[in-house]
This record gives sequence, C-alpha cells and structure tokens, in this order.
Amino acid sequence: MTQVLKIGIVGAGFVAKFHARAMLQVRGVEIAGITSRTATSAEALARFVRANSLGEARVYRSAGEMAAQVDAVAIFSPNDTRLAIVEEIVEAVKKGAALKGVICEKPLGRNLAEARRMVDLVKGAGLKTAYFENQIFMKPIKVQLAQLAPQQLSMGPLVLTRSAEEHGGPHEGWFWDPTRQGGGVLSDMGCHSIAVGWYVLTPLGKSPTFLQPVSINAECALLKWGLPRWRKALLDKYGVDYSKTPAEDFTTGMITFRNPESGQIVKAQFTDSWMFEKQGLRLFMDGMGPGYAFEVNTLSSSLQVFIGDAAAEAVADAEQALEKSTATRGLLAVQHNEPDLYGYTDEIEDARKAFLAGKDAFLSWDYGLEITKLVMAGYLSSEERRSIDLTDPAVQKKLETYIPLIQQGKGKEVLHLL
Ligand SMILES: NC(=O)c1ccc[n+]([C@@H]2O[C@H](COP(=O)([O-])OP(=O)(O)OC[C@H]3O[C@@H](n4cnc5c(N)ncnc54)[C@H](O)[C@@H]3O)[C@@H](O)[C@H]2O)c1
Repeated sequence: MTQVLKIGIVGAGFVAKFHARAMLQVRGVEIAGITSRTATSAEALARFVRANSLGEARVYRSAGEMAAQVDAVAIFSPNDTRLAIVEEIVEAVKKGAALKGVICEKPLGRNLAEARRMVDLVKGAGLKTAYFENQIFMKPIKVQLAQLAPQQLSMGPLVLTRSAEEHGGPHEGWFWDPTRQGGGVLSDMGCHSIAVGWYVLTPLGKSPTFLQPVSINAECALLKWGLPRWRKALLDKYGVDYSKTPAEDFTTGMITFRNPESGQIVKAQFTDSWMFEKQGLRLFMDGMGPGYAFEVNTLSSSLQVFIGDAAAEAVADAEQALEKSTATRGLLAVQHNEPDLYGYTDEIEDARKAFLAGKDAFLSWDYGLEITKLVMAGYLSSEERRSIDLTDPAVQKKLETYIPLIQQGKGKEVLHLL
C-alpha cells in the first residue's frame, strides 16, 4: 500500500494552485490543510482540492494550528511572510506537533541573514526540510543527464551552461516591491537559473554543492519598467512606484566553479528578465561538454494552436495555454502539462519519499541558503561593478549581513531611470 504524506499548505495563490495540479499526478500525497491570509483564496483552493479528491483541505486560521494536524507544512506564501510562519511552525513543534518535514518555495530568504535564521530555526526544532527548486527536477534536465551519461563518463562533464528564465513580469504587486520580494528579477528568477546552472555542471553522482563557486560577475538593469509609460502602468495596476523604489527587470551574469577533485574550471551563465516580449514564460537551458551538448526550450511545444482575430474574443483564459501568457491570438505555444514539465511533480515526489523515510529532501534548506548566498553575491557584484571572489573569507563574512541597495528600497542609487 502506498504510504500517504498529509501536507498542509500556507498560502493559496498562484504557486499553491500549481502545486495542487502537480499533486494530482503524484501517488501518496494529500492536501490535508490550507491556511492563507485571505480566507477566500484558501476556500477556493480547498474547493479545487476536494473536487479532485486530493484531500480534506481543511481551512485553518494559522500555520501553527495546522502544523499540529498534518505530516508536513509547505510554505507557499510571499517572501516577506516566511520567517514569521517558520517561527509559528517551530512553536507548534515545541508544543508537540509531530511534523515530519517542512517545505519552502524558492527563494529561501530575501537575504542571507533571513535564510540563515530560517535554517537555524528548523534545525533547532529537529525538522527535515525540502527547498523547492523545481527546475532541477525538470524531466528534460533529468533525461538529458541520463541520455548523456555515457558521454560524460568517457569525455568528461559539461564545461559551460547557459540558463534563462524570462517572462513579461509577475502577476501580483508584492513581487514588484523590492522590499517585500527581496529585489527584482535576480532575486525572483535568478535563483532558479543559478541553481539549475550549478546542477547541470555537477559531475554525475556528486552532491549539488560539490562544485565550489569561485567567483561571480553580474549585472542588474532596469530596461523596460523604468520607462515613464511602463512605470505608470505599474503604478496604476499594482500601486508600486518605480520612480521611488525601482527594482531590476533584467539581470545577467557568469559564475565560475571549480571541481575540488580535478581542479577543472567550469562556467554557468544566467540571464533572467521580466521584459520578455514573447508568448509567455520561457525556460531555456543549454550545456556544452567536450563533443556533446543539450538544449531545452519550453516555448517549443509539440502543440501549437492558432486563434485568428475573428475568434479572439472567445478566448477565456490565455494562461490555460502557458504561464504568464501575453497573447490571446495568433500562433500560440501550448504546454499541456506545465506542472510536470517545470518539475513540480518530481520535486513533490522527492519530498514525499524523503519525509516518509525521515530524511531531508534532495535539496534541503542548507542548499537553499547556498543559492541565496550566490544571489546576494550577484547583487554585490552589480552594485560594486566588479567580479566577486567567493573564495575570500572577507567576502563570505560581508555576505552574511549584506542587504542589496535595491532590496533596501534604494534602487535609484544603482538603476538608471528616465
Ligand atoms: N517555483 C516557481 O517557479 C514559483 C512560481 C511562482 C511563485 N513561486 C514562489 O511561491 C511563493 C508564492 O508565490 P505566488 O505566486 O503563489 O504568490 P501569490 O501572491 O499568488 O499568492 C500568495 C498567497 O499567500 C497568501 N498569503 C499572504 N500573506 C500570507 C501570510 N502571512 N500567511 C499565509 N498566507 C499568506 C495570499 O493570500 C495568497 O493566497 C513565492 O515565494 C514565490 O517566489 C515559485
């Protein structure tokens, strides 16, 4: 018989719904509880869960109350709410909640001090953890690794990878507010591209932190949403004023890694933007090994639909085709199973197995903390316009307390505005 993990979800917005759709495809998980700041969003998600026989989906008033009734808590609420929620969960554990583990969506923290506090709290409570970085679990990434395993063994691992996540901009106001979210697109999506780049370069069978980060060179820019017309659009739609507290809508950078056994140097380039003017979300990854390569592009689908002008009025929900869709007519790319394509199903399955076995997931919060460190180093590099030496103990110390100017709401000091 399949052992069941009863999950309680904190936050009932966009990503919670995506995970619920993913869980429909995973055996042995139930959504036993939901708690959210807005009761209406919790009730709406609960209805979806019950209608699909995915669990009881009891709505709780708080994460602490829910923690006592479930096997694992999954934190899917905004970035600035995490720490208080973890404190509540830890309190519940101290009072006897028998939790097997706790899951946190990316990013683990808005800065390193916050991420470290999260890790210390759960360790103090003896909780197992899963850091949800879905892109590492993407089937195209896993399959290319398996397919190219013989080449890697005979020719050596990949030497260069390029990773990008891009779309036209987030769907809720808090993402655009750098003080709440942690910054702009580097904090929001750079964490994905940095993680997947590090991972695909890692030699087969080694841990995801085996390769040692040596240096990072990054740049952040405000290219579209700082222009007067688009600033006004942001202000009108979300009440966020980029003339006062701007964040970057574009970032790119290069991280150099060292193989501690062979001494070999390999590189991961990342590019992320909120100003991508194509059909919708695109994840792009490629990698070059000696004599072999791979490429993933999630905008190339085996399914395309065409909607002409005459029929466009009938389109109800463009996002049914693709996350962050920008068009409702023309030739549209459609992904029929985004939760699976983007890796959500496999990361949930991994956390389920790990927690039921009393272990951390493949990516623990310690790993999430390392990603936060690289993101912070990216901001530091962009601010100081220089390459950051990640092997320097003084840099490591500085990163522990560093808060990027953009995150402090002082983006005007480092971003260009018209
Ligand atoms: N892996 C991915 O690709 C991916 C995609 C989207 C979002 N995310 C991450 O998921 C998290 C949530 O993003 P989202 O897009 O679902 O945001 P959202 O704004 O759509 O939803 C947030 C939900 O949390 C609730 N909430 C707000 N404050 C709360 C609190 N204090 N306690 C409990 N609930 C609270 C809101 O009512 C809402 O239901 C973010 O950290 C984001 O970075 C990850």
